[in-house]
Amino acid sequence: MRIAVLGGGRSSEHDVSLASAASVAGAIDASRYEVLAVTIDPGGGWALGRHPVALVPTAGDRARLMSLEADGPPPIQVDLVFPVLHGPWGEDGTVQGLCETVGVPYVGADVTASALGMDKALFHTLATAAGIPRLETLIVMHPEWLHDPQGVRDRVAEAIGYPAFAKPARLGSSFGISPIPDEAGLGPALDLAFAHDDKALVERRATGREVEVGLLGNADPHASPLGEILHDSEWYDHDAKYRPGGMRLVVPADVPAHVQDNARSLAVRAWNAIGCSGLARVDFFLEGENLYVSEINTIPGFTSTSVWGRLMAGDGYEYPALVQRLIDLAFERHSAKAAYRG
Ligand SMILES: Nc1ncnc2c1ncn2[C@@H]1O[C@H](COP(=O)(O)OP(=O)(O)O)[C@@H](O)[C@H]1O
Ligand SMILES: [Mg+2]
Repeated sequence: MRIAVLGGGRSSEHDVSLASAASVAGAIDASRYEVLAVTIDPGGGWALGRHPVALVPTAGDRARLMSLEADGPPPIQVDLVFPVLHGPWGEDGTVQGLCETVGVPYVGADVTASALGMDKALFHTLATAAGIPRLETLIVMHPEWLHDPQGVRDRVAEAIGYPAFAKPARLGSSFGISPIPDEAGLGPALDLAFAHDDKALVERRATGREVEVGLLGNADPHASPLGEILHDSEWYDHDAKYRPGGMRLVVPADVPAHVQDNARSLAVRAWNAIGCSGLARVDFFLEGENLYVSEINTIPGFTSTSVWGRLMAGDGYEYPALVQRLIDLAFERHSAKAAYRG
């Protein structure tokens, strides 16, 4: 069986994804699977080694990687796609849609869950409807901000107040996000967010701690212990996330048992709200004993030393076993779905 591991991608999280994909490729059981490391360049081109390739359908639950060169290597059959892409065009349902279209099983959340998990504004709306606690949030579209900035200022002052945070709806790794200390900071923070997306969120600034739960499974996911993120930065920015030594993860977090239980059950509710499968990491703000779900990441940072891997390791899942479990879950989901194919 051959597994195509997709790394890189078109989003600003390209480099983060390359690191995650290399980790996954190295952890796949080489005695059971042949790994095809496919790199997607920032322009969107796919390559297998030096050869530009495309994923195309074939008969059965498989696909083929076809060389795009006239005298390139012959087509290679692919039994499973393992997308290890963060951010837009990878974590957002687009690559998942390609896999559905060509009919090949793939690891992780499906098209809908990926799109809902990627979009912080849609997630906010869904989570709120599901009774999942969220920080006060305003969704702002770029045209509204361009045409009626005073209206946006008024709404933020009324619904959120200061300090606040602004962020693009569909990105990750803390890109495009900034704190807003006061009303004068709103414009620059929204302009930064709108440099990345035409949809942005303004949220009340949480005071307190950041905790996270890892999830693994399909219909009835396993929730990891709660982990706490500690860092010395003003907030958990890109540098704190990726600079070696920039953050410290404490597992299990030092919180009362009922907070831990509450976080794990809220994480599963967030999972169910988007209809997730495979894996996810749910991030929270913790103010006193009050938990607010911040976001769900359907392809969280994925190296053996990333938060998700370490949360799961805290539960006895070693990294290669995790990768194998994700492969098994992908085939299970694919067969389960096939039963409903009309
Ligand atoms: N409303 C908020 N209050 C306080 N800190 C925030 C808020 N929103 C974001 N942050 C800070 O920014 C970081 C990244 O924000 P997040 O929404 O998780 O986006 P990303 O998808 O880039 O991880 C958070 O981990 C936190 O440190
Ligand atoms: Mg986050």
